[in-house]
Amino acid sequence: MTIPNGLTPDEDTKATAKMPRIVNKMSTGLIRSKERVANHGEVFTPPWMVEAMLDLVKDETQRIDSRFLEPACGSGNFLVKVLQRKLAAVELKYGKFDFEKRHYALLALMCIYGIELLADNIAECNANLIYIFTDYLKVGRSDDTYRAASFVLSCNLLQGDALTMRTHDGQPIAFAEWGYIGKGKFQRRDFRFDVLTGSSAFSAEGSLFAHLGKH
Ligand SMILES: C[S@@+](CC[C@H](N)C(=O)[O-])C[C@H]1O[C@@H](n2cnc3c(N)ncnc32)[C@H](O)[C@@H]1O
Repeated sequence: MTIPNGLTPDEDTKATAKMPRIVNKMSTGLIRSKERVANHGEVFTPPWMVEAMLDLVKDETQRIDSRFLEPACGSGNFLVKVLQRKLAAVELKYGKFDFEKRHYALLALMCIYGIELLADNIAECNANLIYIFTDYLKVGRSDDTYRAASFVLSCNLLQGDALTMRTHDGQPIAFAEWGYIGKGKFQRRDFRFDVLTGSSAFSAEGSLFAHLGKH
């Protein structure tokens, strides 16, 4: 029997157990300053609550190519946990095969997106995600996989306003949809955020979700 994330129940249990135990620079305090709370609503979600919320969509968090966008990602409290869960799934399926492990780990990272108003938070979010990714693959800065991951994060994590859907320098927010086509090759299509979210029907042509149909 398989469950919706493609893992058998036994694999699902092992995936949870194998999640990388990472001590990173995530914001563990719930606030940084009263000013930031008042000005930006900056209150961080505690780890136990993040895990509980992600468990509501557990199968999706353990599917390597499910896409997650956090429109107010802070320093990545949710995105970090999503990446850890996806990498646990990579380890279970491809852990013994170095080539596949690297490329599916990169695909997992490619499926994580964030928008954040404040420059220091988005930089911290970027650092947290790259740390987890490189710690998992044991790659250094000169490695091609590291450079690919850095580039992906520069596209997927944007400093901007999720309400106006514009970047900090006034450009429309656009995201890349990455896909793994095998043999170490990826493809990319770009979508404007306002077009994606403004689609009257998710099935509109050109939407990220067009292949899912109206449901
Ligand atoms: C309540 S905190 C949550 C951070 C993180 N998601 C968490 O749960 O720990 C909200 C974050 O959203 C950012 N933010 C506030 N308004 C925003 C907007 N219009 N667009 C993008 N980010 C925004 C703040 O800077 C802050 O980092």
